[in-house]
Amino acid sequence: MNKTKIELYNVGKTKNRIKILKDINLRFGSGKIHILIGPSGAGKTTLLRLLNRMDEPSSGKIEYDGKDIKDIPVLELRRRIGMVFQIPVIFDGTVKNNLSVPYSLRTNSNHVNEEDLINALELSGLRNDFLERRASDLSVGEKQRLTVARALMNKPDVLLLDEPTSALDHFTGIKLLESIKKLNEALGLTIIMVTHQLEYARILDGRVINLVNGTIVRVEEVEDSFLDSESI
Ligand SMILES: Nc1ncnc2c1ncn2[C@@H]1O[C@H](COP(=O)(O)OP(=O)(O)OP(=O)(O)O)[C@@H](O)[C@H]1O
Ligand SMILES: [Mg+2]
Repeated sequence: MNKTKIELYNVGKTKNRIKILKDINLRFGSGKIHILIGPSGAGKTTLLRLLNRMDEPSSGKIEYDGKDIKDIPVLELRRRIGMVFQIPVIFDGTVKNNLSVPYSLRTNSNHVNEEDLINALELSGLRNDFLERRASDLSVGEKQRLTVARALMNKPDVLLLDEPTSALDHFTGIKLLESIKKLNEALGLTIIMVTHQLEYARILDGRVINLVNGTIVRVEEVEDSFLDSESI
């Protein structure tokens, strides 16, 4: 059996007395691609946010590499578990600023290795001559790649992606997914991605976790879920 990266034990989340997640037990294998799918309002974003402590579970426990995530300093946890949001959040300044400033803040170091910058860009599918460009001038697809590159600056083990393709056209979305798949193959990154589109799950060829109404209704390999795609 492969190594476990993240594991949830009876995790529940209640907000304003509404049970959003109910008793979730889930294991994310290390170096694998996991795709979280399910209808709007199912609790996908809520679940993702618990994994790097952007939010806390109301019950149950989450482990990272066998350790309760509450026992890992939160900045350290977020360095190891990077997150890419649905809408890319970009700061003023150049692409280089966008990559190096959050990194410097997190590591308390002013020294950013030029090679790391170029590496992160190339892994995310951006050319290195983008470094001096104004980030606000980038297209939405390029901005989304920049947010992937920014997460990679921390050399994470896990990348959480919340519908990263939803603001992109079909072609650009597929290209981003191909980059994400390459990251998994080249770096052994564990990927946990939320999507509405089962077709995108097929490109990533991962394990599909179907969340409905705060409960996991099915976990299966992507090919099997295509046999029964009507129900998703
Ligand atoms: N603070 C809150 N108080 C009450 N309900 C909330 C709160 N935050 C989220 N919810 C509800 O929790 C449910 C799950 O929300 P969540 O954002 O996790 O869904 P999702 O599966 O990511 O949906 P989508 O596909 O639309 O992004 C929704 O019904 C939402 O309205
Ligand atoms: Mg969501």
